[in-house]
Amino acid sequence: MKRIICKNYDEMSRLGSYVCAEQVWRKPNSVLGFATGSTPMGMYKCLVDMYKGGMVDFSGITAFNLDEYYPMSKSHEQSYDYYMWDRFFAHINVKRENVNLPNGGASDPQKACEEYENKIRLCGGIDLQLLGIGNNGHIAFNEPGDSLRVRTHVTELTENTIAANARFFECRDDVPRRALSMGMGSIMQARRILMLISGKSKAPVVKQMFSGVVTPQIPASVLQLHNDVVVLLDEAAASGL
Ligand code: F6R
Repeated sequence: MKRIICKNYDEMSRLGSYVCAEQVWRKPNSVLGFATGSTPMGMYKCLVDMYKGGMVDFSGITAFNLDEYYPMSKSHEQSYDYYMWDRFFAHINVKRENVNLPNGGASDPQKACEEYENKIRLCGGIDLQLLGIGNNGHIAFNEPGDSLRVRTHVTELTENTIAANARFFECRDDVPRRALSMGMGSIMQARRILMLISGKSKAPVVKQMFSGVVTPQIPASVLQLHNDVVVLLDEAAASGL
């Protein structure tokens, strides 16, 4: 894993946007994997600015997001679908039909996961996958102790993740208990991975992730086995290294 320590959140976001844009310049029909959460918001803003400045054209890309709460309607303000359109997709020229998120409204969530996985395969796999990391080491909704081999699946959120995500909802009870999430097996298939990590609260898990030990207790540690990962950290997140 290559790690680059950035001065602050803005520098990390800017550098992250260059990595994404460079992927699209090199391969205009790239398949890009996106993430939600607070960390990539700055990067999405930089990419929108680059698009508006005529520096990058998203018309050929296909997008797949990592995860979605379940059950969750697309129009809910806390759905990841809403997040992505509100902050990113609506402001660039990606084609609507090329945008994919796991379907939080599916009546058969298991089947929806299988279809999602098939669609990624049919599109030729993910060229560049963007990731964040939870305080507990989760990636997407692959929680500590989960299998490292699974593909897109229905998963139960841990109490830790429910507590961390409650800040986006009116109260903790409103946070859905389940999600549809790409599995570590799907994520490890991406050709390139870009992980963004920001803030002091992530410093302890960053230290564990780079410890050299690969363990299901820290799902992010498995990225040590991937041969093309760039981790951009701000100084606060890197403070324990
Ligand atoms: C989001 C996702 C999550 C977040 C993680 C960090 O699609 O898959 O794993 O990346 O929870 O979230 P933030 O960035 O809010 O700290």
